[in-house]
Amino acid sequence: MVSRRVFGLGVALAALLVAGCEKDDPNEIKVGAYLSLSGADSTFGTDTREGIELAVEETNAAGGVKGKRIRVIYEDDKSTTHEAVQKVRQLIDRNKVVALLGEVASSRSLAGGLIANTSKVPMVTPSSTAVEVTKNRRWVFRSCFTDDQQGAVGARFIWNDLGKKRVGVFFAAQDSYSSGLARAFRDEFKKLGGEIVIDKGYQKGETNFRTYLSELKAANPDVLFVPNYYNEMVLIARQAREVGIPGSMFVGGDGWDSSNLVAGAGAELEGAHFTNHYAPDVPWENSKKFVTAFTAKYEHEPTSLTAQGYDAAKLLFDAIERAPETTPASIRDALAATKDFKGATGTMTMDKDHNANKPIVVVRIQDKKFVYATQILAE
Ligand code: PHE
Repeated sequence: MVSRRVFGLGVALAALLVAGCEKDDPNEIKVGAYLSLSGADSTFGTDTREGIELAVEETNAAGGVKGKRIRVIYEDDKSTTHEAVQKVRQLIDRNKVVALLGEVASSRSLAGGLIANTSKVPMVTPSSTAVEVTKNRRWVFRSCFTDDQQGAVGARFIWNDLGKKRVGVFFAAQDSYSSGLARAFRDEFKKLGGEIVIDKGYQKGETNFRTYLSELKAANPDVLFVPNYYNEMVLIARQAREVGIPGSMFVGGDGWDSSNLVAGAGAELEGAHFTNHYAPDVPWENSKKFVTAFTAKYEHEPTSLTAQGYDAAKLLFDAIERAPETTPASIRDALAATKDFKGATGTMTMDKDHNANKPIVVVRIQDKKFVYATQILAE
């Protein structure tokens, strides 16, 4: 008779062996996802993962892809570009994934995308909007709009909908997302006839914005355009209140989308607006279906990142289904041929630069909640 202890050891050993030299399961298709599941932008990663999980669950419940189960292997890049590079290498070399999902932040999609591109493994970023992310990268795609489009829409919203003409711009100078979006905004706002009365870049990682905010206020703008991420925006909004800048003066971009924004500075940002991929109450049929399915599983509202993660995963699975073979090259070609794919965040057609053109939603912060304000078509 085998003693319980020896048996237990045997089981542990077998488990170790399985983990060490993972056998390929012929009934499974492996996809890698690299995300900021911890660190400075952790809600970007965890929100996106929830969306991907729902997409996987629905897809597998409906028979999988090419009759096989989809398995997504998640890796945490801890919100750093260095780890993003390592994780992408690991997913490709060790796990032999056929395609990648990730990242959210443009700086990390740029870094991870370089590896995907040179390794010839297709990657779909759900939410990275900086123009360079897909530029000249044959293997990198996005299921969202670009900052050229988003910046222009922000400018048109301020000019046409808010009817404001004097704007101050405040952005994170060394961040590809923030500085690129600020640039696109300025170009369009000036074209419309608007005036940029003050333009300031801060260093990423700064926490005391009071001197900047006093200068911004002294320039007497009607609106402040602040295209940054939610964690910095919480500090800026709180300090803005101290110097007497009302929340309704702020307009931002999709980087604001986090429940932490309203949890941290909901009152300070009352009446502010930002351009986004989606809003929980956006009047689109597919979005409503998604919100219902999501809230049934998770018992909380999805953010835009969740919807984007869901769409990127579904768009990728659809491409794998259409690809003649389950190889990275075949999947790449199928991704490039995506046409009228109906997602929760709009209908997507991959253009020649691998960008999905979708309407851009404007969200208003009202009673510490994100509410749909309007939608504007990117040009
Ligand atoms: N668009 C941002 C970037 O490119 C990421 C982001 C998307 C953040 C959506 C929040 C919501 O870096």
